Amino acid sequence: MSGLFIAFEGGEGVGKSTQEALLGEFLSSMGKTVVRTREPGGTPAAEAIRAIVLSREFDGMNARSEALLFAASRGDHVERVIRPALERGDIVICDRYIDSSVAYQGYARNLGAEHVRNLSLWATNNLLPDLTIVLTMNADVSLQRISNHDRLEAEPIEYHRAVTQAFLDLAQQDPERYLVIDATQSKDAIAQLINARVMQELNEK
Ligand code: TYD
Repeated sequence: MSGLFIAFEGGEGVGKSTQEALLGEFLSSMGKTVVRTREPGGTPAAEAIRAIVLSREFDGMNARSEALLFAASRGDHVERVIRPALERGDIVICDRYIDSSVAYQGYARNLGAEHVRNLSLWATNNLLPDLTIVLTMNADVSLQRISNHDRLEAEPIEYHRAVTQAFLDLAQQDPERYLVIDATQSKDAIAQLINARVMQELNEK
């Protein structure tokens, strides 16, 4: 596939959307075709699954069912949006991907990182990002930045600390495919680090 697949990961309130928008603008200004999308969601079916999986109506949902729903959403999203875009040669910027499942369901909900990862690899026919950008910040601080907590954001602080640590562990296991950034830096400083790394990826393609 000739495109470039970039995923953004991190805990709640670390500023992913701002950076995704800035990167999208940067790449568009260079004449690249950018597809910005998000998980869970990105297709009509996946957005319908998103509404279920994030709804406070379903507090206490079985953890395995939750993991299956995220994987189900991802499968449709990859087949109908992400893979076609990469085949066209576009740059895909995706808010969250498999590592969110590994961190939230695998680590924080204790379902096991390998099981959860394998489930998503099966759902997506083994599609992994070329680059994953992890924005990291102390969970106690980042959670204070958001109001109106959805079902997962409403989990106790220990859950969010486990998620933050999980992303760092995943990045450490495969440093070439990750860029870890201290999200307490200024928005422009973060954007510069991201742009530089993405340019490097494009040059190496
Ligand atoms: P969202 O409002 O998109 O959060 P954010 O802006 O922080 O990305 O909600 C997505 C929530 O779903 C978030 O709490 C992370 C969680 N999530 C999982 O638990 N597993 C997954 O596989 C994905 C993609 C998200």
